Amino acid sequence: MAIPRDFINELVARIDIVDLIDAKVPLKKAGKNHSACCPFHSEKSPSFTVSRDKQFYHCFGCGAHGNVIDFVMEYDRLDFIDAIEDLAGQLGVEVPREKGTGPRRDEGLSRDLYQLMEEASLYFQNQLRQNDDKQKVLDYLAHRGLSNEVVEHFNIGFAPDGWDGLLSRYRQSQDAQDKLLTAGMVIENDNGKRYDRFRDRLMFPIRDRRGRVIGFGGRVLGDGTPKYLNSPETPIFHKGNELYGLYELKQKHRDPQKVLIVEGYMDVVALAQFGVDYAVASLGTSTTADQFQLLLRSAKEVVCCYDGDRAGTEAAWRALETALPLLKPGNQVKFMFLPEGEDPDTMVRQVGKEVFESQIEEAQLLPEFLFETLATQYGSDKGTLAKQAIKLIEKIQDTVLQSLLLENLAYKLGMNSAEELKRKLGFSSKEQAKPLQTKALKGRGTPLRLAIALLVQNPLLGEGLPEQPALKHIKMAGIELLTLLLDITRVQVKNSAQLLEQFRGDEQLSTLKKLTQWDHQVADENLQLEFRKTLIWLNNQYIEQRYQELSLKQNHTKEERIQLTKLIAVIKGLK
Ligand code: UTP
Ligand code: MN
Repeated sequence: MAIPRDFINELVARIDIVDLIDAKVPLKKAGKNHSACCPFHSEKSPSFTVSRDKQFYHCFGCGAHGNVIDFVMEYDRLDFIDAIEDLAGQLGVEVPREKGTGPRRDEGLSRDLYQLMEEASLYFQNQLRQNDDKQKVLDYLAHRGLSNEVVEHFNIGFAPDGWDGLLSRYRQSQDAQDKLLTAGMVIENDNGKRYDRFRDRLMFPIRDRRGRVIGFGGRVLGDGTPKYLNSPETPIFHKGNELYGLYELKQKHRDPQKVLIVEGYMDVVALAQFGVDYAVASLGTSTTADQFQLLLRSAKEVVCCYDGDRAGTEAAWRALETALPLLKPGNQVKFMFLPEGEDPDTMVRQVGKEVFESQIEEAQLLPEFLFETLATQYGSDKGTLAKQAIKLIEKIQDTVLQSLLLENLAYKLGMNSAEELKRKLGFSSKEQAKPLQTKALKGRGTPLRLAIALLVQNPLLGEGLPEQPALKHIKMAGIELLTLLLDITRVQVKNSAQLLEQFRGDEQLSTLKKLTQWDHQVADENLQLEFRKTLIWLNNQYIEQRYQELSLKQNHTKEERIQLTKLIAVIKGLK
């Protein structure tokens, strides 16, 4: 059932885009337009604009643009229909539905295919209750330990043995028979003879996000081959874009925190039966970029679950490579490995929901999995390890995450910064992400050096300055010297001479002396401002480092979780 075009037009006309966005992303008036830092990518200065005249938003940074519906879809991660429902709800009106032609371009042919698929699914479900052979199927379900509830929730059915159980229901309609062929439910042999694709199999209907049946997976009731037969690609079924169980999951959790990706139909179903009702399966291939995209839109945290064997590790690695370019701050992708010989279905039956969920909690974070795998592969060859890691990290599009991981890698390899790491490896700095926010302060040494130099040359800058507790926690060579200088200048000294006097006999004296002579190129009237900027930069470094620490940590305490959420918000604000 489609939503009338007129209704959609009216929604777009009645809801003001500036008000809508302002409620979620506070906007500033800037000339004719309103602007803010873009909610769809990380940025420091606002390039996201909203036009009241045009009722459109546009980001000059990342190119995001659209109207109220697009905004709700993107920002709240809703699909089209849900976005319409949401907007209508804001106006307090019901969404009307109409039968017949709708605005979707695929509804001519596809509409009938969807109908046929739904009918096929109902037919298979009925066969589970009515077919002469039903007892053997029920026995198989019992043998697999599937409850009636879960069989119903997933609309599992039975395709009977024989050549035309499904086909013969459409004896009257050549058109319907042709469409069954198009939908992949029927096969035509070289002699033009047609017969059912799925015979004597347990049937798992695959639904799209809107709940429409678009394909099936059919399992033999025993040991035959192939174990699973799947619908082929059809005009309505593209297996790389779909996830088994996503619709059923959304029925239970509109806005899930976490989604688990597993390998099999049976895994999704068994997990749901045991209360782990947030699993989906990629359809017999490795998880595609489209599928990841879909998942990361559905939930912040995606846990990829694999067997502990070699094939499982390899599949996990492919998933990691696929996920890297899609990551945004706030997303978490994790990896969990089951003991060899187990899959989620057998595992959850053995250990139950609680233990299984505690295993999910212990899943490895993506950076850990990345570093650990490379470390196993390259062992003591730190140079190759670092080069491989950098190659992968550079696939990350999001510059915040990218620099976090690089810093983390440098730290793991015992270096001070990502810059040092790259220098050592002889990477040109051309297309690589600079560590955060150094650009503003470039050409004057590092911000830390600048801060120390400014303070040594103008100790009054430190007078009465509030304490900077965050600085003490930053992992950065030289930070102790700055905090010491800040402590001294806060109360005691009026000029450089007095300050240096306190360091007589100290090994740092020569460094400080050099810095008193260093031409920092900051004009007198800007001293105060530039000094404050360096402190802000350093505080931001702390925020980033803390974020990094927390996001690499497992089993957060409640406070850490709260802090992490806040940090993510702050980091988004910074960029
Ligand atoms: P598995 O072989 O791990 O099967 O295939 P499973 O899910 O554990 O199933 P049970 O427990 O033996 O019944 C994982 C997934 O790979 C695809 C299916 O999507 C399956 O769920 N597959 C597997 C096929 O498409 N065809 C096959 O012949 C086998
Ligand atoms: Mn299995």
